[in-house]
Amino acid sequence: MDRLIIKGGSKLKGTVEISGAKNAALPIMAASILAGGEHELDCVPHLRDVMTMGRLIANLGAGFHLEGNKAVLDCSAISNHEAPYELVSTMRASVLVLGPLVARLGKAKVSLPGGCAIGARPINLHLMGLEKMGASITLESGYVLARAKRLKGASIYFDIPTVTGTENIMMAATLAEGKTLIENAAREPEIVDLADALTEMGANIKGAGEGVIEIEGVRSLRPLRHRIIPDRIEAGTFMTIAGITGGDITLKNCRTDHLDAVINKLQDAGMIFSAVNGGVRVRGPERLAAVNTKTMPYPGFPTDMQAQFMAMMCIAHGTSVISEKIFENRFMHVAELRRMGADITIEGGTATIRGIRKLKAAPLMATDLRASASLIVAALAATGETTIKRIYHLDRGYERIEEKLGKIGAHVRREKE
Ligand code: EPU
Repeated sequence: MDRLIIKGGSKLKGTVEISGAKNAALPIMAASILAGGEHELDCVPHLRDVMTMGRLIANLGAGFHLEGNKAVLDCSAISNHEAPYELVSTMRASVLVLGPLVARLGKAKVSLPGGCAIGARPINLHLMGLEKMGASITLESGYVLARAKRLKGASIYFDIPTVTGTENIMMAATLAEGKTLIENAAREPEIVDLADALTEMGANIKGAGEGVIEIEGVRSLRPLRHRIIPDRIEAGTFMTIAGITGGDITLKNCRTDHLDAVINKLQDAGMIFSAVNGGVRVRGPERLAAVNTKTMPYPGFPTDMQAQFMAMMCIAHGTSVISEKIFENRFMHVAELRRMGADITIEGGTATIRGIRKLKAAPLMATDLRASASLIVAALAATGETTIKRIYHLDRGYERIEEKLGKIGAHVRREKE
């Protein structure tokens, strides 16, 4: 297992190229299952989760390779319909193969993901949607078994706008007979990117990015050529790094229109944003101001940015209140930030952060992907040398992080534990 050693205290300056979005790449890779032939995806980030999805699809009988940032998937010979426990247990997003498999093969056997560090994360809404489309669903020895000769269009309402649930049903509906309506659909940019990819394959989709998505099923789809959108959470993370270090960072390949809520809050905290050729320049103030925020489904403030924003608020002037409304256990970073001297109290889903002048280095433990990112954000501004253990969480979602940080002047090195 690797650990990161970070010497904090420098104002970080320079340019960072944002990678393709993990959470767009994963569903679009799963979408390739829907059609035979060779699919080509550009701007696919080299990440552990992407490799896991590649292995999962290869295990179904497809060819997969990732060269540079181009992924090629040959899905002509998909024959196996099982996503085994060994793979699903390492990545919950594996559940994204469920919809495409039932649609293409008429059956799927997918290990039920267990709980995870940030919450229980059930998939009842994915299953309800498929059932409404005529699939028979049974649970057997920890696996979901779904069967349907051909799925039928249906009207599906989600109690909660689930991201991967919307993606699963959208993919399944492309090959169903008739029209599917998804109401209270998730509206994240990754949903729109998936809909664009499916449309390039010949699917008929209206309303992606809005609350109601309409999909008219077609008989078959063709192979895909698609470029993945930039990762808004990676970009947002580098914005908080500029904020906490009082730095001056230019982000290239960044869609600021996907980050309105985050940029708004960062501006309230005193940060300055300006458009520059092919990117955005982000500057941190001498001292950040305390700002309250609440996580919400898109276009609200993303839960995937909550931990990094909290790290910033630890040294802001004043007291801020952050409410987590998406996941019930997404404050795992708080105990670690406290070890650096942060003054944070939690009551239910709300954290109150009283800003202090300086965080101090400490040995830390990463608990999940975004919590790891928040510890890096904090360590970059702390006095002394911070060690972060269990950094494998970070490798699931941030491509070449030490290299990118090194280029803007951070002192970061990776060591084997
Ligand atoms: N939920 C249910 N039933 C369901 C599905 C979801 O109750 O059938 C609940 C969840 O427990 C949660 C809420 O609905 O309380 C929203 O969860 P959602 O389904 O939207 O999350 P997800 O699709 O599992 C994706 C991202 C997460 C991100 C969330 C929220 C991918 C692969 N994952 O997860 O990303 O936090 O949406 O935006 O797209 C990450 O990248 O670090 C990450 C965790």
